[in-house]
Amino acid sequence: MRVDKFLSEMGKATRTESAKLAKAGKITVNGAVIKKPDVHIDPDMDEIKLFGVTVSYKKFTYIMLNKPEGYVSATEDGRDKTVLDLLNDEERRKNLFPCGRLDKNTVGLIILTNDGDSAHRLLSPKHHVPKTYGFKSKYPLSSDDVKSLEEGVDIGGYVTKPCTVSLDANGTGGKITITEGKYHQIKLMLEAVNNKITYLERLTFGNIKLDENLKRGEWRHLTDEEESLLLEK
Ligand code: URA
Repeated sequence: MRVDKFLSEMGKATRTESAKLAKAGKITVNGAVIKKPDVHIDPDMDEIKLFGVTVSYKKFTYIMLNKPEGYVSATEDGRDKTVLDLLNDEERRKNLFPCGRLDKNTVGLIILTNDGDSAHRLLSPKHHVPKTYGFKSKYPLSSDDVKSLEEGVDIGGYVTKPCTVSLDANGTGGKITITEGKYHQIKLMLEAVNNKITYLERLTFGNIKLDENLKRGEWRHLTDEEESLLLEK
């Protein structure tokens, strides 16, 4: 791999910046200054330093972000702010994308990664990754409503798979865990029982829980442990 590609993938510099940094003698490979950005390196074997600091190789990046309202789960959008706008430049250079979608007014846990194969696997309907959401509804849900939701409701020609619902004491909210991800699924499910979602927050994605210390709009890298939990098959 070219050293400029490596530095760009690690979020350290754009290709153009790498060319300038190399010319200025700020990049070393195994202790030797390289003057050109097209030098080939083996990221697993070679030690690359930028400004004297080792740039360690990590093939993929996984981020947990607490999505605020008003942001779309896309990499670019002509009109709205995207979840990528919440990252810093270093992360934005890494070609990250949201692993799954939350509606513009849904808040909470979203995973960003550049690991396309794993994202594809996690989002595939075959894998039934459970996702738990906290919700509030316009009207109280009856026990019949809960039963219907849990068994499956028709959301416009598609009957949802079994899910679990637990209600708060007043019945106008609670938690719902689904194992699929149809467009507007939970909103449509509540409409199917003549109700309406007024608030929706994703709390978990598979084995990953939204970090309570992250405020809306904040993000952090997954820990090594979370990374293995996310990727375990
Ligand atoms: N279901 C919805 O209706 N919206 C979301 O953002 C996620 C699940």
